[in-house]
Amino acid sequence: MQVFSHNTICSVKALVKAGRKHPNLTMLLIVIILIAITLLVVWDRQPTTRLNLPLVPSSSNQTGNLISGQDWSHMAGAKQTNEGISVMPVGLAIVNQDGTPGQANPPVNVNGPHVVYDGTVRIDARLKISSATAAAIQFYAAPPIIYDEWRYETPSVRISLEKNQIRITIWNGTSDAPAIVRSTQRSFDSETTITTVISKDSVAIYSGGQLIDSEKGHDTFRTGTIWFGADSTGGNFMIQSLAADAMSGLVKVASAPSLTVSQSDSGSLRNLAAKSRRKLPIGAAIATYPLLSNDSYRNLAGSQFNMLTPENAMKAQFIHPAPNTYTFEDADTLVNFARQNNMQVHGHALVFGEANPAWMQASPLTQRQQIMIDHISTVVGHYKGKVAEWDVVNEPLADNDLADTTSPDIRQTIWYQAMGEQYIDIAFKTAKQADPNAKLYINDFGLEADGDRWDSMINLLQRLKARGVPIDGVGFQAHVYESGDFVDKSVLERHMQQLAGMGLLSRVSEADVTGDDAQQQALQYQDLLSACIEVPTCTSFTTWGITDALGSTTTLHTYPLDYGNDLLWDENYHPKSALSALQNLLKSE
Ligand code: XIL
Repeated sequence: MQVFSHNTICSVKALVKAGRKHPNLTMLLIVIILIAITLLVVWDRQPTTRLNLPLVPSSSNQTGNLISGQDWSHMAGAKQTNEGISVMPVGLAIVNQDGTPGQANPPVNVNGPHVVYDGTVRIDARLKISSATAAAIQFYAAPPIIYDEWRYETPSVRISLEKNQIRITIWNGTSDAPAIVRSTQRSFDSETTITTVISKDSVAIYSGGQLIDSEKGHDTFRTGTIWFGADSTGGNFMIQSLAADAMSGLVKVASAPSLTVSQSDSGSLRNLAAKSRRKLPIGAAIATYPLLSNDSYRNLAGSQFNMLTPENAMKAQFIHPAPNTYTFEDADTLVNFARQNNMQVHGHALVFGEANPAWMQASPLTQRQQIMIDHISTVVGHYKGKVAEWDVVNEPLADNDLADTTSPDIRQTIWYQAMGEQYIDIAFKTAKQADPNAKLYINDFGLEADGDRWDSMINLLQRLKARGVPIDGVGFQAHVYESGDFVDKSVLERHMQQLAGMGLLSRVSEADVTGDDAQQQALQYQDLLSACIEVPTCTSFTTWGITDALGSTTTLHTYPLDYGNDLLWDENYHPKSALSALQNLLKSE
């Protein structure tokens, strides 16, 4: 094998000859070669491998463009401008029960584009940071599931550009806590391109063409879909461009689905109810993220129900995360969905002891009345004419075992602490003023049976009536979480009739029934609906969710999800006998 060519050997001979003639030059050459070798070795050790790709973002590639022609107007904090997507701080967070801020809850653009891929996809995001102290984009394998006191973290990678550092956080779908949080010191130009290369089991993040971080083997993106979120701290930033391109396999950008669902199924709950004697609206509590990201969920929501209660999206921590910040977007999406599918909206819940953002809970007692009034006026005003009725005060009664000498019946919420029982009067009067046509409800659990809770509620209602509080009705939550909660239909009917005698409407507002015994479950659902049908002042029947996969009886903080069994469709979206029981009842009416 010839290692050196004749020419090479000649050149080396010539060099040696020249070296003898010019010893200084030789030294210089040797030094240069040594420096070059050192540089090469050091370069090789650096983690900053070069990305062998053109550095210009490929936003000109229209197929992978995630901004132009796509919808970002429904994501909290985002505004579509000529320059790109402007992202402003909203401070969404899940509150802990004790009022301390819990998990961050940065918005996800479920009402916009997502990527479907089967190989390796490259996402280029060009960010222009103006006043933000942290500018973050987040790529999710699926939208997270949002509860009041918990955000179920689906696998995602979060890239946050902060002062002189880039912070990478990766959740792998097994815990609330991220699997990886790493910061790399780095200063940024105000305009920076972040390139993220994603395959089903690996993710690599580059800035300026240099590798910042990478991770393999976490299966982070095994779903083959990527959803997008962004959030800002301290000020605004701009997503100037965002584009996805295939490095291998297929990459497709999917837009938000149409919100209109076919209602042609004559056997659906809503169609059967519409043909029945009472024509009761049949409702469900609905969540925004699955509605936009899950076709089965959306189809059931729009085809089976003609009434909708936002499950969490209108609660204060989600709609009013900071003193002067209202994030109506997720609730607006639900209201739009309802309008497009001829569903009535029942608003839930204006004033509640739970699900209040940390700032509200920590607000000075002297300011709380004004905070409550502003909150109600703004939210009811925003939905005036679009939301037919409201839970103005949710769960005003204390738990039975709460010993409180001053007012044993009324829950000592942050509102009660500031105003006493008067908070209820003020809340209803404010809501009435904001939308005189909306029906105003008080809503609570454990009202279906005789006993202390029912007596307390009747007493409260009598006081409210005597004080001229504009209340229209009472929501019976009808949570039947265990066999001890089973509702006696005749008692429930009697309670509804008692309210009617006081000039008050009723509704079954949050029915869900333990499914440990499928037959019992079916019978109980049937009785709850039947009671509502029997009493003319019962205005609607709502179940608290659609599928067990997203029910409120899922065990909190458990990965993978540990579902309850309380709803009409199981976690695989298969109908249960409880659904047939309701359908049969409606058919017979
Ligand atoms: C539940 C939601 O369904 C859950 O997602 C959340 O984690 C907790 O709240 N009574 C109410 C509803 O009035 O707001 C509650 O909803 C269920 C009990």
